[in-house]
Amino acid sequence: MLYNEPHPLETKVLTRRFGLENSASIDTYLATDGYRAFEKAAGMKPEQIIDEMKISNLRGRGGAGFPAGMKWSFVPRTSPKPKYIVVNADESEPGTCKDRLLMENDPHQLIEGTLIAGLAVDAHAGYIYIRGEYRYLIEIVDKAIAEAYAHGYLGKNIRGSGFDFDLYTHTGAGAYECGEESALLESLEGKRGIPRIRPPFPAVSGAFQCPTILNNVETYCAVPAIIRDGGAAFAALGIPKAGGTKLTCLSGHVNRPGVYELKLGFPVKTMIEEVGGGILGGRKLKAFIPGGSSCPVLTAAECEGLTMDYDAMAKAKTMLGSGGVVIMHEDTCMVKAALRIMRFYAHESCGWCIPCREGTTWIRKLLQRFHDGMGQRSDIALIGDLAKNMLGKTFCPLGDAAALPTISIVEKFYHEFEDHLNGKPCPYEQSGAGSQPAAASQAASLEGQRQ
Ligand SMILES: Cc1cc2nc3c(=O)[nH]c(=O)nc-3n(C[C@H](O)[C@H](O)[C@H](O)COP(=O)(O)O)c2cc1C
Repeated sequence: MLYNEPHPLETKVLTRRFGLENSASIDTYLATDGYRAFEKAAGMKPEQIIDEMKISNLRGRGGAGFPAGMKWSFVPRTSPKPKYIVVNADESEPGTCKDRLLMENDPHQLIEGTLIAGLAVDAHAGYIYIRGEYRYLIEIVDKAIAEAYAHGYLGKNIRGSGFDFDLYTHTGAGAYECGEESALLESLEGKRGIPRIRPPFPAVSGAFQCPTILNNVETYCAVPAIIRDGGAAFAALGIPKAGGTKLTCLSGHVNRPGVYELKLGFPVKTMIEEVGGGILGGRKLKAFIPGGSSCPVLTAAECEGLTMDYDAMAKAKTMLGSGGVVIMHEDTCMVKAALRIMRFYAHESCGWCIPCREGTTWIRKLLQRFHDGMGQRSDIALIGDLAKNMLGKTFCPLGDAAALPTISIVEKFYHEFEDHLNGKPCPYEQSGAGSQPAAASQAASLEGQRQ
């Protein structure tokens, strides 16, 4: 079970039904204000819905943090083509495990979010693209969809509003690349999951070459609260340029790993020490991944005074990403952490762009060499150079996702690479030093499963 007991420092908006009896059922949902936001939105003009979204300052929760209201406003409502709503439930970023909890505990919140998105852009069909490994969730989400149809919240003339909306689940086959929005759309259309050239972006040409809103599960789950309580109330929970709460997946070397809903702008130190219960075994913090394994790694010193929000992370030259926080304590070998992360990317590169396909494999081999104690001094710079040569040279950001953590680890933990030269045994991993960081071990176990 990933979800701990709620923590008093949490602000429970999207997770407020977690822990209720039968929280996934429509009865529980309706008894706790469920579908009230849809009823309200059905009486609003589409532009009012989009305005409310803009006021909320909701930024996409899938990784890039793009303002959701602005994305919705790009959909050409007057286009004669059908419009679609697509939910990115691929959740493959190592360290990230929040969307599964949202779908498992409160699937109607997600359904209501897609309905409101449909009203906003005049879309009448939606797809929830769920990663293949989340097979158990498909049953839960499908059951909720069936309940919504039975209660008149999906289908024709929803609750007498005159609005029609159909919603379907679609399963991926377990490819990280299919979480990237354009590859997801290819996969949804039954093709090989490789990225598309952009522009055009999905808002203009997405699913089946029609205008499409594509957002992360958590992004849609925030929509009912925004419409129900008003965009301003949601915005007030966060900081000026990023409204609301963020589900933070705290893993690695902390005493209380789990998924916590925290206000944007939450202090990193308080998150680790109070919410996470401090570092495992009373050790010191060595490294911090703020938003999934694609993000540049921060050192303990860089975490001083840092807050969990998009701009603060950008200032620290990293990203809030998807909220997959990985804590690594002082006994972690950063060469091994880099290797575990790169193994994942080398395995998951879809192979379409050569810099990513070749770069990830070369770097993985070099890191393996280091970890085996056979690295050469010139290889340290070579790893950094190879990573830098991947940046911005691929159709999708998977190449960047592999390069950025690598570059940061080489730059910030250079001495640890030196410590592995000349066949020395790894000086960091003493026996019983604690488990490997979650992102790294998740990456390794995924690789193991697929080989
Ligand atoms: C390789 C790769 C994998 C991604 N995986 C996911 C994912 O699993 N879930 C997700 O929501 N976004 C993922 N993204 C980001 C999506 O491309 C897209 O930005 C996001 O779904 C948009 O939704 P949002 O605006 O609500 O964040 C991934 C991006 C890349 C480059």
